[in-house]
Amino acid sequence: MASVSLQGIEKSYTRFTAVRSLDLDIRDGEFVVLLGPSGCGKTTTLNMIAGLDTPTGGQIRLDDRRVDQVPPHRRNVAMVFQSIALYPHMTVRENIGFPLRMQKMPAAEVRTRVDRAAALLRVESMLDRKPYQLSGGQRQRVAIGRAVVRNPDLFLFDEPLSSLDAKLRTDMRVELKRLHRSLNATFIYVTHDQVEAMTLADRIAVMSGGNLLQFADPDTIYRRPASMEVADFIGNPGMNFLRGTLQARDGAPALHTAGGIYELPPALAAAARALPAGSQAAIGIRPEAMAPAPLSGDGLLLQGQVWAVEPVGPDQFIDVVTAGEDGPRLRARLPPERRYEVGAPIALALPAAHLYLFDAAGLRVHGGQEPRT
Ligand SMILES: Nc1ncnc2c1ncn2[C@@H]1O[C@H](COP(=O)(O)OP(=O)(O)OP(=O)(O)O)[C@@H](O)[C@H]1O
Ligand SMILES: [Mg+2]
Repeated sequence: MASVSLQGIEKSYTRFTAVRSLDLDIRDGEFVVLLGPSGCGKTTTLNMIAGLDTPTGGQIRLDDRRVDQVPPHRRNVAMVFQSIALYPHMTVRENIGFPLRMQKMPAAEVRTRVDRAAALLRVESMLDRKPYQLSGGQRQRVAIGRAVVRNPDLFLFDEPLSSLDAKLRTDMRVELKRLHRSLNATFIYVTHDQVEAMTLADRIAVMSGGNLLQFADPDTIYRRPASMEVADFIGNPGMNFLRGTLQARDGAPALHTAGGIYELPPALAAAARALPAGSQAAIGIRPEAMAPAPLSGDGLLLQGQVWAVEPVGPDQFIDVVTAGEDGPRLRARLPPERRYEVGAPIALALPAAHLYLFDAAGLRVHGGQEPRT
């Protein structure tokens, strides 16, 4: 097991910075997910921890040992990649045991360790097969087995499930979580899939454009996103925003948007008073927090037109425009019973308890408070 500490890690190329002064402290035994869109620097970060890439600045520590100049094979770190690279001419047993044979481990011990890893990953019955005789999911389990046998301090996963179909990915996700529990090791896992991040992680590091946006447990990331960027990236679909300018109306703070003027409910109004008058701001609400009108209690009533209807089984996504075709569009996640027609008028309730307020810089200034007990 190992704790991992990144201090001011930087990776710059001649004309481009892939990772910018990244600080990250990962606890011994923790499951941390690096989450972010394509190109945000996830793989680069993982490669620097593995030693496959050298930082251009900052320090990396595994436990208390500084490792940024230590070669990969002396870090006791195992990495599982997105593309499953098994040796096609070797059996599953030989593939899993390969790193141990490279270390010149005695054959009997290799055998014991391979058997144990195979049982853990449920590929015991396939040990004599060649990779081409396995399904994608089985191959990925063998690749993970090859990491497990080494008994590393730290496991690094780079989108290991992305080449699998949706059903298999869900199954493997559960298995990875169980594997983490049974190994009691530190896992750092890269993905751009927010569902994977939410379900797997003890803590999620949300990255964008080489920067760390937020590092917190999934519940905090979902309920108390640091910024609009995080709020938008997390959730299925992401948070909705009404963007506009803060201006008092009849003495009460209101948000003036392209689709109408929204008087702020008391809690938001209090937060808005701390922002400069006339400044840009946004009200946020999650699709699943919206409901068909009427509104009971504090909140906002949103009037608009149905722009699109997407049934997804237990729910339906209803896209609503508030100021004509090109106006701001919000997406509500509503129960499936009621039928909505594209083009028809719609009124939605936005309860105050679920509203967020973001300032001109996109930072959360209100919303996601701990529920009062
Ligand atoms: N050798 C290089 N020279 C210049 N830029 C590079 C080099 N290698 C990577 N980059 C850039 O660094 C950025 C981060 O790349 P990285 O592979 O870490 O992204 P990622 O978050 O893993 O994305 P993905 O989800 O697509 O795998 C990208 O914009 C990439 O184009
Ligand atoms: Mg990558």
